[in-house]
Amino acid sequence: MTRATIARIVRMKAINCAKIAGIRRSFSVASILNANRAITYRSPGDPASILTALTYPSLPPPAPHSVNVRFILSPVNPADINVVEGVYPSKPSPDQSLIGTTLFVGGNEGLAEVTEIGSEVIGLQKGDRVVMGGQQLGTWASARTLLAEDVVKVPEEISEVGGATITVNPPTAYNMIHDFVDLKEGDWLVQNGANSAVGQMVIQIAARKGLKTLNFVRSRDDLESLKRHLTNLGATQILTYDDLQDKTLREKVKEWTAGKPIRLMLNCVGGRDTTAMTRFLGEDAHLVSYGAMSKQPLSLPTSAFIFKNLTCHGFWQSRWYKQRTREEREGLFKRLAAMKLQEPEHEILTIPADINDDAATERVRDAVRKLGQGQHGKKVLLKIEQLAE
Ligand SMILES: NC(=O)c1ccc[n+]([C@@H]2O[C@H](COP(=O)([O-])OP(=O)(O)OC[C@H]3O[C@@H](n4cnc5c(N)ncnc54)[C@H](OP(=O)(O)O)[C@@H]3O)[C@@H](O)[C@H]2O)c1
Repeated sequence: MTRATIARIVRMKAINCAKIAGIRRSFSVASILNANRAITYRSPGDPASILTALTYPSLPPPAPHSVNVRFILSPVNPADINVVEGVYPSKPSPDQSLIGTTLFVGGNEGLAEVTEIGSEVIGLQKGDRVVMGGQQLGTWASARTLLAEDVVKVPEEISEVGGATITVNPPTAYNMIHDFVDLKEGDWLVQNGANSAVGQMVIQIAARKGLKTLNFVRSRDDLESLKRHLTNLGATQILTYDDLQDKTLREKVKEWTAGKPIRLMLNCVGGRDTTAMTRFLGEDAHLVSYGAMSKQPLSLPTSAFIFKNLTCHGFWQSRWYKQRTREEREGLFKRLAAMKLQEPEHEILTIPADINDDAATERVRDAVRKLGQGQHGKKVLLKIEQLAE
């Protein structure tokens, strides 16, 4: 049986069970009928206008190859916003399992606890903490039924925030540092968006390997405190894009690196400032793009290709997951957990069980509106409370 067929059967069973359970529950307690809540939307659009909180019944027992999970924390990443906008290449499947009508549940990443196991599930137990092994499964919810093959166990010792944010940003940082250039202790890399969650992971993982980092951020009022924070994480030099106007900067960088060529550049911003940053690269360098936060294209001087032999790549952690086995994924999570990386600066947005959907909707829309304005500086994680049954 194909994975798509199993998924379809799981969804149909969930809908049928939910309908039956819904009917049964209408004769019992109203709170059980509305035990769960998810952040949903019906078609792509502006997240601050369309994201809608929706209550739904408690989950029916899982089908043989599925598990029921309770979400502990689910981050709101920039890519999640792009998915809701409908501009991200990886699309969620329309979902009918919650209330029987088609909608989408937001969220790609999250830490959950297994609460019930299907009869054929091997290798998972009630109480295991898991993250998502599949893409766009809809993690902005209090509880979901998922295919067992779509979840991956995480090491016990990892914190809730660490676990909730382990599938996207730390692996992206780790793989970009390791997959393109063989960097040795004392080597340098340069990156933009250095205060992003990925950027902060790059700084820490690089520092653990004895690598030096040249980090660019946007200027801001509290620049000195941001610099202190990044320095504490292990950043070697921190500059703003405004510093790129300084004609003597190239010489300063040469002094810092003692003339050592910089061979890896990580880009999540794009646009002119990124072009300007390439002048710090040495011969045979690799420019790895993984985001486009400025929404501007990246243009590069032809001379960099001809005379410096620059190579450009794109990196997508989703592609990495598709190409790797469950063992490889778990291995990477173990390596990352062992590094004891500092959690991203974060803010937990609790959606309490005792507020109504309209109030919950307003809280979420307000949060995504603020995120859209930039310079928020903190990863927002949703904690969507489940009503006790
Ligand atoms: N390819 C992949 O596999 C992959 C994996 C993970 C993440 N990503 C991408 O990496 C990027 C960062 O993700 P994240 O979760 O680390 O994000 P995050 O923690 O929310 O940080 C966003 C970063 O983008 C910067 N930024 C926002 N708008 C900007 C603009 N107009 N010009 C310059 N900088 C801007 C922010 O700077 P301020 O603080 O100044 O606002 C901040 O440094 C996103 O594009 C995300 O989609 C890609």
